[in-house]
Amino acid sequence: MAESAELILDGKSYSFPVTEGTEHEKAIDIAKLRDQTGYITIDSGYKNTGATKSAITFLDGEEGILRYRGYPIEQLAEQSSFLEVAYLLIYGTLPTQAELDNFSHQITKHTLVHEDVRKIFDGFPSAAHPMAILSSLICSLTAFYPESVSPDLSKEEIDLNVIRLMAKISTIAAWTYKNNMGHPLNYPRNDLDYCSNFLYMMFSFPTEKYEIDSRIVSALNKLLILHADHEQNCSTSTVRLVGSANASLYGSVSAGINALWGPLHGGANQEVLEMLQAIQKDGGDTSKFIAKAKDKNDPFRLMGFGHRVYKNFDPRAKIIKKAADDVLSALGINDPLLKIAQELEQAALTDEYFIERKLYPNVDFYSGIIYRAIGIPTEMFTVMFALGRLPGWIAQWKEMRENKEPIGRPRQVYTGELERDYVGIEQRS
Ligand code: MLT
Repeated sequence: MAESAELILDGKSYSFPVTEGTEHEKAIDIAKLRDQTGYITIDSGYKNTGATKSAITFLDGEEGILRYRGYPIEQLAEQSSFLEVAYLLIYGTLPTQAELDNFSHQITKHTLVHEDVRKIFDGFPSAAHPMAILSSLICSLTAFYPESVSPDLSKEEIDLNVIRLMAKISTIAAWTYKNNMGHPLNYPRNDLDYCSNFLYMMFSFPTEKYEIDSRIVSALNKLLILHADHEQNCSTSTVRLVGSANASLYGSVSAGINALWGPLHGGANQEVLEMLQAIQKDGGDTSKFIAKAKDKNDPFRLMGFGHRVYKNFDPRAKIIKKAADDVLSALGINDPLLKIAQELEQAALTDEYFIERKLYPNVDFYSGIIYRAIGIPTEMFTVMFALGRLPGWIAQWKEMRENKEPIGRPRQVYTGELERDYVGIEQRS
């Protein structure tokens, strides 16, 4: 007999079906709850709410498991490339060589942006945060491709939007940095692979020859893979919610970029580096900051520790820690901030206070260190996260659209005033 959940309300009994995922996660299907009972559920922060059924990413927070389309993150980070993982997330299968070549070729062909996009840069203050520019310019693509707002796009038209977005985001992302620095903007180079081209646009100057370091390319591939999807996190849920109104792919992803910018989400990697810099400026005594973190009355918070869904460890952090060690030793980098980071990491892994509260270093903690080692400026860290997360957002938007999901429309429990009559201004005290 199919499993169901019984609910007793005001002495009346109701039955709701239980639905089970392929990894045996169970959920009570309350789609008919309000119709049948007049009640709704309240779940602030949606910690117990499955907003959708999805076949893209499996995450087990208790066991520290993360898989994209069934493939373990460890294998993908070690053996795959960012574009291959992007294809996997978006289309559901690992590509054949011909499919991957075609996907890469299409993306390479579309990396140029309309010259009018370039002009928009002039309208931003030069000190603007790169995430503000990134979200605005990604949204502006809807203006350059107005047909993208149609709710009836064919498969081919959706694919073209996907390719354009994957291609143009790296150009726009690199230009946000160049604009910020007051450097000339570099046009993409079609002879380079995705990661090399991004590094070239970020770091080269028209006046000098730029040598691409294969160790940095490989570290970047790994970082982007590790950030590529993370099921229904805040920015992804935003992309799906905005997309559920039939908004364009560009508009939906732009909304996701804004969600990611928040310091409680993707902005955390920038906050980690700023925290390490503040500790260094204060003299570098990590034990003082560990004590502050433990003091309930001290507002200081250790950034980059613990995670809302991982209860033991973040599997991405394990891979990225090793990558950070490899990159730093390969590049011969001796960074004093790294020493501070290592001391904090050691404290968190050995101190009872942190162990009990499951405050272990997460992906944001180590990613900031690698980004710094490969020369990415702190303000660009969250842009790098967005670059990595893009295939996940696209895959989730596409899945939502293909499954014809209804518009997202949560309800509320109203706690305001009861009905009252309008009072003229002269009668108000
Ligand atoms: C992410 O990768 O999106 C972050 O770890 C946040 C989350 O999953 O809630």
